Amino acid sequence: MGNTRVYLKKGKERKVKNLYPWVYRDEVQGVEEGGVIADVFSKGGKFLGRGLYSRGARIVWRFLSRKAEPIDKFFFRRRIFEAYDRRKGISSTAFRVVFSESDFLGGLVVDRYNDGLVIQIRSRGMEEVKNTIMDVLVELFSPTFVYERSDMESRRDEGLIPFKGPLLGVVSGPLRITENGVEFYVDVVNGLKTGFYLDQRRSREYVASLISEGMRMLDLFSYTGGFSVYAALKGAKSLAVDTKSDALDLALENARLNGVEIETLRYDAFKFLEDTDETYDVIVADPPAISKRKGEREKILGALWKLTYNALPRLNTPGHLYICTCSYQASLEDMLKYVRFAATDRGIPLHIHNVLLQPPDHPFFPHFPESLYLKCVHAVKVSL
Ligand SMILES: C[S@@+](CC[C@H](N)C(=O)[O-])C[C@H]1O[C@@H](n2cnc3c(N)ncnc32)[C@H](O)[C@@H]1O
Repeated sequence: MGNTRVYLKKGKERKVKNLYPWVYRDEVQGVEEGGVIADVFSKGGKFLGRGLYSRGARIVWRFLSRKAEPIDKFFFRRRIFEAYDRRKGISSTAFRVVFSESDFLGGLVVDRYNDGLVIQIRSRGMEEVKNTIMDVLVELFSPTFVYERSDMESRRDEGLIPFKGPLLGVVSGPLRITENGVEFYVDVVNGLKTGFYLDQRRSREYVASLISEGMRMLDLFSYTGGFSVYAALKGAKSLAVDTKSDALDLALENARLNGVEIETLRYDAFKFLEDTDETYDVIVADPPAISKRKGEREKILGALWKLTYNALPRLNTPGHLYICTCSYQASLEDMLKYVRFAATDRGIPLHIHNVLLQPPDHPFFPHFPESLYLKCVHAVKVSL
């Protein structure tokens, strides 16, 4: 079967030329259907790129190459190896090997946990080449297991059913990883995302650098206690708050694994800030995406305002607030504005000491603004 040919409407070629990796259905003038490999052309018939075709989906085409080169096992092997090679020097036994569009493999995520792999397939086109991807992963990494965590609802937009299950080998019980010398149990089968928030590795290290012996730290939306354990190792008294009890159980196990103690509390983090009378030297607030729906930016920003507004009175002076959003809809500029609004509404002066984005194994590809999703702001409560 020949390649599918996708012809864009007039003026729509500029995005593809500028390396934006998606073509939406409503940007297409016409399609000559062939196989899953698809070439995109301008209205005038100029070849613009080669990629994967997702028949019937809203995003019909995802970029693979600027050249009309064969898209075969050797191509995927080269792309995946190059992505892996860019991750050299990461101080963890667990990291993201392939981050979808940012690694020019739209629709594919590969996370490495020790000698095993967890993959996510997000598009119909990538699903169709899954066997080739598996062959390449086995050849390149000889993994002890490959587990698929494609259990996200967004697969339905591509006409795919959410799926999770083993593709190779067996995963029995939580794995044990080492990140910056700190050990964690990770449940790749039942945990959130692919089991661990690999994208907060740099934040955990950064927040630990703010801690000194005897400080009190509040870890809101703690999941399996990443920030809490790092802080406890620096001598802090950490309290991890989350609504997920199995994550909190693992947080306690993680503390024990590192020879420290932390406290955990199953509680709504928003409500906790309203209900507690305690104060802390460091507060981390790393909420979930709040909303993934387009047009709900205000809701996300409202939540960030509320967290900041209610965290500020719970901070000692000086005290550190480390607040994050993992929603691409809320820009860094938005975040800084809403942190300022909350501080103004409280009448509490802040210094902004730092801003951290997602780490280099989750690269932000500026030609694809949607790939910048994680932003964290380190604000310090100061006296005036
Ligand atoms: C982005 S993750 C946090 C990751 C964590 N900081 C880490 O480094 O592993 C968000 C967490 O918020 C929890 N969560 C969601 N809504 C919550 C709420 N209203 N109150 C407390 N926790 C909540 C989820 O269970 C999840 O563990």
